[in-house]
Amino acid sequence: MCGIVGYCGPKRVLPVILEGLKRLEYRGYDSAGVVYLEDGKLVKHRSKGKLSNLEAIIDDAIITPSHIGLGHTRWATHGAPTTENAHPHSDCTGDIVVVHNGIIENYHSLREELKAKGHTFTSETDTEVLAHLIEDNLENDLVEAVKKAVALLDGSFAIGVLWAGMPDTLIAVRNQSPLVLGVSAASGTFLASDIPALLPYTNEVIFLNDMEMAVLTSESQDIFSLVDGKTIEKKIETIKWNAAMAEKAGYKHFMLKEIYEQPQAITNTVSGRINPETGEVNLPELNLSASDLENIDRIIFVACGTSLHSALVAKYWIEKYAHIPVEVDIASEFRYRHLLINERVLTVSLSQSGETADTLAGMRIAKGLGSKVITICNVVGSTMTREADGTIYTHAGPEIGVASTKAFTSQLAALFLLTLFLAEQRNTLSGEERLKLGKDLIDIAGVIEKEIPRLQEEIGTLIESYYDARDFLFIGRGLNFPIALEGALKLKEISYIHAEGYASGELKHGPIALIDKDMPVLALVPQDDVYQKSISNVEEIRARQGRIILIGTEGDAHLSNITEDVIYLPKVADVMNPILYTIPAQLLSYEIASRRGCDVDQPRNLAKSVTVE
Ligand code: M6R
Repeated sequence: MCGIVGYCGPKRVLPVILEGLKRLEYRGYDSAGVVYLEDGKLVKHRSKGKLSNLEAIIDDAIITPSHIGLGHTRWATHGAPTTENAHPHSDCTGDIVVVHNGIIENYHSLREELKAKGHTFTSETDTEVLAHLIEDNLENDLVEAVKKAVALLDGSFAIGVLWAGMPDTLIAVRNQSPLVLGVSAASGTFLASDIPALLPYTNEVIFLNDMEMAVLTSESQDIFSLVDGKTIEKKIETIKWNAAMAEKAGYKHFMLKEIYEQPQAITNTVSGRINPETGEVNLPELNLSASDLENIDRIIFVACGTSLHSALVAKYWIEKYAHIPVEVDIASEFRYRHLLINERVLTVSLSQSGETADTLAGMRIAKGLGSKVITICNVVGSTMTREADGTIYTHAGPEIGVASTKAFTSQLAALFLLTLFLAEQRNTLSGEERLKLGKDLIDIAGVIEKEIPRLQEEIGTLIESYYDARDFLFIGRGLNFPIALEGALKLKEISYIHAEGYASGELKHGPIALIDKDMPVLALVPQDDVYQKSISNVEEIRARQGRIILIGTEGDAHLSNITEDVIYLPKVADVMNPILYTIPAQLLSYEIASRRGCDVDQPRNLAKSVTVE
């Protein structure tokens, strides 16, 4: 996720901004830039890669007496991580600069309109349209111009704006992307996308809400609503966190923060790609022609670990709704077996990092055999996205915890979009059915958002009877079988408890021999089309004195006759259960690992990106 820092005040601006950007490094980024005003002119420096690269090119400039400027660390979403795409971005005159976090969903049409009016673009980013939109609307009042420009944007944005024509003022706007102001009578006014950037200078902050605009000078912070134009009196709050706590926004671990970020990550992945009125799916980066799509007679997913589990869910979705046979392959096996692949096979690689060695090798082999290859990936410009014929980006933002959480549920969201897209192309669902399914997908983020805090509290209590287990089984059927696998993987990787996931119906073919009072079994039993079968499997465990945790549907009173440890989830469309049921599985693993004092974010022997075979 990108980082914004802004400053106006008595201090020299560059050291303040660079220090702030360093404190936002934990958010992940792939390029960085700064801009400041000197002698009435905006001076901009940008660089790809780490902040040290940027520092190296501005070595001499650091002594600038400038007292106003903006800085940015960019996590690429539109356009590769290059210097040209790094922020700040300018208008045609070079007198207006903007920094931006989030995604401007309608940037493409805005860009085309602006180009037709004669604006020249120098980057591939969605952000640059904003600088030109402000230019287009600027007479002599920057505040009015920013207001008009922002009104044209769809999507999420936190922005900072500086104009050479108003040398003492910064403008900030927030909509669905965080932005906080720092205030200090002695040191001036600060702007940042997260609190750690402010802490060296002040712990007095003002949080902006969605659709609020702040007009900032060294001594003043005027805030008003972009909805009704009214001035808003904001409370100044005092932050008591230390720097480490602040990086995690007060959460104990990045993993927990990322679990809580899932509704936003899913929304970012879905929004702008599905028309809520028609259910139509738009995946322009997929790069597949109508004839490519017509030719496909099989899809093969290639992935590792958690990404493999999301592919297993997609197999159920695509076969049911798009009627295309799907195979799911473990990348390390795929690359060494005799592959029956040709140009009628669509290969889809799935990867959070886009760099996993086995998955990459699998993609290359499939391509060599004539298959079209697309990738579903969270990192713009990663090797997989460069080598694939097309990409669907998940917009989860950088994931810091080694255990994948928000990247997984965002992959599920992207895979469901792909399912709807294929169903549309192949005409396997009616418009009405697609519209209903699209709505189910759009709505799931809101459901999760509401449930996470309650689930964390309940699960935090429940694990007191389970955190010292030596082994664990996770079971589920149908769409929830892959979630059982994912739950078991999560638990073993962060708590070091031995855990296995099984299809519930497989239990009696071997694993049931393990059941006794020391083997807790977590069963996913939503009231779906295989509910009765799932309950029979749970009864088999109960008959053998197994300890059972059930995760099921709110109002299902039968579950509490089976065990006292029941976690209830709201009834959602069956098809969305894999996304919803993942959340308690993640939280159970998290709470157990945290209770056992494990290094949750960096479990032993694991790496975030597995670039070796
Ligand atoms: O970056 P990728 O999605 O390709 O990574 C694949 C696996 O290494 C990864 O999912 C791993 O299993 C995670 N630690 C799971 O939490």
